Amino acid sequence: MVPIHQWIKIKAPATVANMVCGFDILGFAVCDPYDEMEMRLVPRAENVPAITIINIDEYNLPTQPEKNVAGAALLALLEESPKEFGFEVKINKLIKPGSGVGSSAASSAGAVVGANYLLGNIFSKDDLVRFAMNGEKVASGVKHADNIAPCIHGGVTLVRSIFPLEIITLPSPQLYVTIVHPQIEVRTSDARSILRQQVLLKDAIKQWGNIAGLVAGLMKSDYDLIGRSLEDVIIEPVRSILIPGFDELKKQCKEAGALGGGISGSGPSIFMLSKTKDIALLVQAKMKALYDSIGLPHHTYVTTINPAGVEIETKN
Ligand code: HSE
Repeated sequence: MVPIHQWIKIKAPATVANMVCGFDILGFAVCDPYDEMEMRLVPRAENVPAITIINIDEYNLPTQPEKNVAGAALLALLEESPKEFGFEVKINKLIKPGSGVGSSAASSAGAVVGANYLLGNIFSKDDLVRFAMNGEKVASGVKHADNIAPCIHGGVTLVRSIFPLEIITLPSPQLYVTIVHPQIEVRTSDARSILRQQVLLKDAIKQWGNIAGLVAGLMKSDYDLIGRSLEDVIIEPVRSILIPGFDELKKQCKEAGALGGGISGSGPSIFMLSKTKDIALLVQAKMKALYDSIGLPHHTYVTTINPAGVEIETKN
């Protein structure tokens, strides 16, 4: 266990959920961007809150634990923890909320991984995913683990089931990730509320083929199979209308050599996977040119899959 009052530093990475065809079940962590957090154990005492959240960024997110994603995740963890401790958490969000790259998951996952480290690693990774999903519920109204799982486990993950929880980490060949974040906000709850609740059998069959193809492509390091499987006939046709220039951007990125890609999580960010860094940089240039041409401010990242997930550093 880390001594009371000693701060630790936490790096909680962004994640790309869905991986195009795997709505709510596939995701991967990236090396950049990431949130920075600091945390310490405090003794529990009467009239002292068990969880104190201090935001040190510009987003003005709620600090009441039950309304804050990190707080909600920690409240779930506290229910199964030694009663004599509470936590102080400082959060510096470098992943913009509502960007579609797992901003809420980074806070929730970072908080529970940090808390577990402070307590002497008493919980399993599955426990931590279970606690962190409470943060996702605050953010989007539902528990889903496709951002949380890769954030905690690192790499690419498949959530076979959330009740009961079963997470499978998947191998992957070297892949470069280009992400563009157009500066508009799409709330996950809104992007979920517009989805159709019924799926045609012919569409489901295509989607199953693509999910299985993508998993097989990752396991066999078959880049062409990965590229062919990055197709979504169920969610993307509905959600892409929320993202300016989506179809044209995707077309141009693929022409530039990207294997494929699509909406990152619930958007508005778009991601593309490439075999080499040179192609990933070319894809970035295409994304910038397109959004510059329509005057839409944006941020881009060229990064790789993060095999580690949340990382902890003891502060001096
Ligand atoms: N699977 C979730 C969704 C991810 O697409 O709504 C949200 O980041």
